[in-house]
Amino acid sequence: MTQDELKQAVATAALDYIRPHLESDTVLGIGTGSTANLFIDSLAALRGQVNATVASSDASAERLRQHGIPVYDLNTVDQVDFYIDGADESNAALQLIKGGGAALTREKIVAAVARTFICIADESKLVHTLGAFPLPVEVIPMARSHVARELVKLGGDPVYREGVITDNGNIILDVHNFSIAQPLATEAKINNIAGVVSNGLFALRPADVLLLGTAQGVKTLRAS
Ligand code: 5RP
Repeated sequence: MTQDELKQAVATAALDYIRPHLESDTVLGIGTGSTANLFIDSLAALRGQVNATVASSDASAERLRQHGIPVYDLNTVDQVDFYIDGADESNAALQLIKGGGAALTREKIVAAVARTFICIADESKLVHTLGAFPLPVEVIPMARSHVARELVKLGGDPVYREGVITDNGNIILDVHNFSIAQPLATEAKINNIAGVVSNGLFALRPADVLLLGTAQGVKTLRAS
């Protein structure tokens, strides 16, 4: 199977996962990226049964609206029942690297609110140790050089993501050559650098379920 077919398989599996739980007041959190886009397109089949979503990016909100699916501001909903999103990497504890699409901060906010975070990814994303994928860090523009120097002190090689401004008006530094042996500690350390808005490590709030697309079918993994 191609990577796109694996992504479609997990998008469909996520739809099957949530379908039995859908009530009139269910709120879905919707992620960002190519896998999340396939989920959004699959969700269109349930238009009319999905009364409320919150989106982790302007792009996903727009795609949902194009399908006629209602999108709300997070501040106006009482709860988020399920958050469905992709990832750039996951380890066996379902700690993730996210932010390849520069939406990490809003993704982290929706994940923090969600009762159940369902990560959907193809098998290439499952790794032993996080960090082969460069870790995205969202930074207030005036702090770019300061944050870059602090990331070098932590052992990484930060690279400015040219031409990218996040939905929040900030810039992204991608930290290369940064093997992450202690995701919890590293997430907290980077968050403590002045000027960092958030970083793409999802260790303090990992996924609850990983639907992993493999050549043998979709596997359901829970944090070990
Ligand atoms: C966007 C993200 C995405 O979930 C991540 O980049 C995976 O993307 P894709 O599904 O296109 O492989 O974190 O900020």
